[in-house]
Amino acid sequence: MVKKNACVFISGRGSNLKSLINKSRDYNFPINIKLIICNNESAYGIKHAKKNSIPFLIVDSNNKIFERKIIKEIKRFKISLICLAGYMKIISKNFIKSFGKLIINIHPSLLPKYKGLNTYSRVLKNSEIMTGCTVHIVNEKLDDGKIIAQKGFYISSKDDAKDLERKTQKLEYKTYAEAIINLYRYD
Ligand code: GAR
Repeated sequence: MVKKNACVFISGRGSNLKSLINKSRDYNFPINIKLIICNNESAYGIKHAKKNSIPFLIVDSNNKIFERKIIKEIKRFKISLICLAGYMKIISKNFIKSFGKLIINIHPSLLPKYKGLNTYSRVLKNSEIMTGCTVHIVNEKLDDGKIIAQKGFYISSKDDAKDLERKTQKLEYKTYAEAIINLYRYD
């Protein structure tokens, strides 16, 4: 199997990044992570890039031309898949067009419900029975675009927001990996 070159975008802790790096070590996993983009210089997730000797670029997303800088690096590394993993910035229409290939995102809710921030507290406030995570194709709207994988679980009456976060994140690692495997199933 010829693995695709992937780039992961992060803003914070990077636990999904860590999981994808580990999965990509598997001979049968369809991507290699060749580049990491981070828009927060103090993000813990950069440690995973350093530890695994994966090239990374820290960008200032307040700078007007930051997406142009990213595009330049992405072309240099011949990236064909971008995985957003806790990247807390909306991708512009221009960027999507210039890249011209697949961009996917993971979100901690059963989309289309609970787009945006603070999903766990909103889910609890609304006394939802279930929650979970979703992988979707990225468009220029927040947490929008075609859903390609989704997994859920039942909320226990004892669960607080921290419990939901822990359970959801565990499910995210599995869901993200399965979504990527499915994307290239017939290649
Ligand atoms: C993840 O739970 C991801 O779903 C969420 O940020 C977290 C990042 O955690 N993304 C969004 O909310 C996107 N709208 P991580 O940095 O440990 O992977």
